[in-house]
Amino acid sequence: MKRALGVCYYPEHWPEEMWPRDAARMVAAGITWVRIGEFAWSRMEPTPGNFTFDWLDRAIDTLSAAGLKVILGTPTCTPPRWMLHRYPDMLAVDALGHPRKFGSRRHYCFSHAGYRAASGKIAEILGDRYGRDPRIHAWQIDNEYGCHDTVLSYSDAARDAFRGWLATQYRDIDALNAAWGTVFWSMEYRSFDEIDLPHLTVTQAAPAHELAFRRFSSDQVTRYNAVQVAALRARSDAPLIHNYMGRVLDFDHFEVGASLDIASWDSYPIGFLSDRLEASDDHKQRYLQQGDPDMQAFHHDLYRAVGKDGRWWVMEQQPGPVNWAPHNPAALPGMVRLWSWEAFAHGAEVVSYFRWRQAPFAQEQMHAGLLRPDDAAAPGLDEAAQVGREIAELPEVAQTQAPVALIFDYPSEWAWATLPQGAGFSYFRLMLDAYRALRKCGLSIDIVPSTTTDLSGYKLVLAPGLAQMPPALIAALQETVALVGPRSNAVTQELSIPTPMGPDLPGIDVTVSRVESLPPAAHRDAVDGGAVHHWVETLEGTSETIFETTCGQKIVMSNGTMNYLGAWPDETLWGRIIRHLADMAGLPVHDLPEGLRLRDTATHRFAFNYSAEAVTFQDRMLPPAGVEWWAI
Ligand code: GAL
Repeated sequence: MKRALGVCYYPEHWPEEMWPRDAARMVAAGITWVRIGEFAWSRMEPTPGNFTFDWLDRAIDTLSAAGLKVILGTPTCTPPRWMLHRYPDMLAVDALGHPRKFGSRRHYCFSHAGYRAASGKIAEILGDRYGRDPRIHAWQIDNEYGCHDTVLSYSDAARDAFRGWLATQYRDIDALNAAWGTVFWSMEYRSFDEIDLPHLTVTQAAPAHELAFRRFSSDQVTRYNAVQVAALRARSDAPLIHNYMGRVLDFDHFEVGASLDIASWDSYPIGFLSDRLEASDDHKQRYLQQGDPDMQAFHHDLYRAVGKDGRWWVMEQQPGPVNWAPHNPAALPGMVRLWSWEAFAHGAEVVSYFRWRQAPFAQEQMHAGLLRPDDAAAPGLDEAAQVGREIAELPEVAQTQAPVALIFDYPSEWAWATLPQGAGFSYFRLMLDAYRALRKCGLSIDIVPSTTTDLSGYKLVLAPGLAQMPPALIAALQETVALVGPRSNAVTQELSIPTPMGPDLPGIDVTVSRVESLPPAAHRDAVDGGAVHHWVETLEGTSETIFETTCGQKIVMSNGTMNYLGAWPDETLWGRIIRHLADMAGLPVHDLPEGLRLRDTATHRFAFNYSAEAVTFQDRMLPPAGVEWWAI
């Protein structure tokens, strides 16, 4: 596996005289890739049709002359002000019906045909100019689809496109009425043109209507992306990349990723802990300056699955305090190095820092870079340079199939977001809990899409919360030790209750006859330790019960290798369940100290200490933020 460092650079933010020195300093820090251009549309095309690429040519010259490989971004996440004169109706509209106005970024609606074409056009123009330029080694299309909550748009363009999408899906309005159950509350439609977007209704819109809108919205992202892919593929052989975000789940990344060459994502561990994780105050305090120990690794494994042939990068790595979370502490010394190494251990080809120099102006002036606004080195630079030296010295390490797979499915997120049944029920959170439980046992994990037909080589597979389970997946699960549930195979494609009721799995006699959701403070203790919370199912059937509550409610039923989990376990119970399954699967597990995590490659074991205290594992002492690796 080749490893390299990169950085995000904005030549348009700095006087041209600074560029050569910047480039030389990047190279001195061990950086080989530089991403530019993704927000620079107003400098590439200041007025419609008037292109000014001379500055970009010179920036590419300077960077490339210093030995850097350029990743060129298409600037479509920041349409300039003039674009709104051309298309006043191109703005995304939020669920309250408010347009998302000009003045920041991502203000376009994915369904607006004119803007989609304009995005394709600028990609063509860039492709014509730079597509065969050997200094351009990769393309980034747009920037962070879905960031700032921008996938679901309630614009007129979206409404019209949604009607067309429904007509293609259902063909016949009676079929739609039957599928959605619109006889309930006299919601029946006589034509597709009567159907509105599912917002601003008095109480909840029909769940199938909402789910259809989510599926449609995801498809719109895929279609939007496809236009730029087509433009660039015809003009360049360089790899196409998109930079996904953390916990952005409103579109199916596997579908977008299918037409790209490399998946990348933007990793902001401390920002994410503060602004997008459900965790106790104690946990947030303990990892305040390190980030959650499993959030980054989860996304590394997810995006490795999204990338073609497992190719993935970190396109933006947090280098110090960010500006956008509710609170923005600095990283513990050593964490920038730890995050970088953790990405490499999970197979990243490139870790690229955001950003080179902190901007002294505009929205992100309080966001750290590798350099301070006054050009002095910020603390992240030394750590990046250390990683640069280390990757040059360490022998290549190859990835290998992990012993454990976790099945991940975007439509299940949409299903349970539409029909949560308990406030805050989150598929993502359930998945992260399962992933964390595996990691706390020292296991390495592959994340695998639900469309897989082959799970050979995995000793243990977890598939919690899968709204529907494709028959090929069910068949593949028969070949391994598997845990499914809760809420697995529980609804039809249209979010109705199926008959027979779920999980309806071959070889195991279990039926979910009732479900309950519990408020945050409630739990039911399990026999021998741990508890269930948030979600509890009533299980019927003749298969063996292997975990139960102290009041006799079944938690896990089993036929030996196929296991059904009918509740949401707390951390202790998750740990007990994973140990039981690992034992059945013949997988060795570890009892790791708090904050320590492992990742195995084909040749090396890596250990990461997310704790603010030193920890010891197998006679190795890791300081706070320590990273160790050894041959296995
Ligand atoms: C990312 C984004 C960057 C920058 C960064 C700040 O979400 O792609 O452009 O805004 O966050 O942390």
